[in-house]
Amino acid sequence: MKPIKVGLLGLGTVGTGVVRIVEGHQEDLVMQTGSPLKIEKVLVKDRSKARNISVSEDKLTEDPWEIIYNEDIDVVVEVMGGIEPAKTYILEALARGKHVVTANKDLMALHGQEILAKAADKSCDVFYEASVAGGIPIIRTLIEGFASDRITKIMGIVNGTTNYILTKMSQEGVSYEEVLKEAQQLGYAEADPTSDVEGLDAARKMTILATLGFNVQVSLDDVSVRGISSISKEDILYGQKLGYEVKLLGIAECRDDSISVTVQPTMVKKSHPLASVNGVFNAVYVYGEAVGETMFYGPGAGELPTATSIVADLVAVAKNQNLGVSGRRLFTPYKEKKLKSDEQVDYKNFILLHVEDDPGVLAKIAKVFAEHEVSLESVLQQPNPHNPKAEIIIITHDANQASMKKVLEDFQTLDVVHKVKSVYRVEG
Ligand code: NAP
Ligand code: HSE
Repeated sequence: MKPIKVGLLGLGTVGTGVVRIVEGHQEDLVMQTGSPLKIEKVLVKDRSKARNISVSEDKLTEDPWEIIYNEDIDVVVEVMGGIEPAKTYILEALARGKHVVTANKDLMALHGQEILAKAADKSCDVFYEASVAGGIPIIRTLIEGFASDRITKIMGIVNGTTNYILTKMSQEGVSYEEVLKEAQQLGYAEADPTSDVEGLDAARKMTILATLGFNVQVSLDDVSVRGISSISKEDILYGQKLGYEVKLLGIAECRDDSISVTVQPTMVKKSHPLASVNGVFNAVYVYGEAVGETMFYGPGAGELPTATSIVADLVAVAKNQNLGVSGRRLFTPYKEKKLKSDEQVDYKNFILLHVEDDPGVLAKIAKVFAEHEVSLESVLQQPNPHNPKAEIIIITHDANQASMKKVLEDFQTLDVVHKVKSVYRVEG
């Protein structure tokens, strides 16, 4: 049996896991694909660095072209990260007829279209299962598992760092700043956590999921993004009192052929399955017109979970090569993109107001909602010994966001409203 030869670009967290699984599961992989999988060469930045895995000296290289120009290599696995030089290496590998497997969500969200077009041109496979939600096989599920259905909504907890922070804030009543510091000390959050906490990492993943789910080419600019850095202990506490958990949700919706994609902190009803996804775990909820509600849960990162997705992609490459159908199963978004602006979307809202504690205040507030045709689901007034003003929490029914914007503008000039403390989308 002719082996499938792999060139690995990167031997960090994920690359190490790929070597472990390819070596440890070799017998099963051969039975599934009909070919041994052989790691031929491994690109690293620094060959002299101490590694958690032993890879023979002659396999390690600091020269990418030893892999890309190597005619023996059938497939390049890119687990270096970043846009460049990863993009150039992938395009050059495809130009030479090599299949590509990548875990790089930044690259696939920004340049996926160009890479997939090049692959189609060269009849090569490009798979990227590990790029969203690490160990959860959500990409293959959207492309194959839901092929017969029409997906109308995808909601994802697709960033483990922010879910860890929000879980700690909710379960231990600690502040955002305290948990972030602890998460950095434990190595869960990066030294520069901006991409995670400001929602950009989740937005990139949602770009990929929405493209696949709705068969429309979604770009990162189409996603409206709000991160978790302004969430307070008070918001989480009031959410809990009313039966909600705050989660950073990516929400992609397709209604009447128009789509909207957002990433925002959301009050999720405790009875919704996404509310109990805690710690670094990820989950993707998918609603299909025919199937109804489904949810996929698991580790969104980590050496072995992420590597399982990469090696599953390698199995797919090997099977296709052996069957002579490489590059034939490429996903092409075939629907015209019709985007809904933020203000054209309807959803429920959670609003926390600091107001004067006088007669008639509630009536004035209710009048503003009525004027803009926003209907209220529930209202709670809480005494707060630390706050001389009253605190009012309002949950609206589904409300048009253009109307909600007008309500919030009017509150700026309403004498009885001291402060609009926070506003969240509500789901579940
Ligand atoms: P990592 O631990 O930082 O490893 C990166 C590896 O690539 C290292 O071995 C490094 O070499 C090598 N490398 C980086 N730049 C290079 C360059 N210019 N030339 C040669 N070698 C270079 O990264 P990772 O956590 O494994 O992540 C890899 C990819 O997987 C990223 O795209 C990431 O977003 C994605 N991903 C990661 C996870 C996760 O759990 N970590 C989950 C899902 C997806 P040295 O070892 O010599 O420094
Ligand atoms: N920074 C990402 C997270 C890693 O926290 O989920 C996986 O992409």
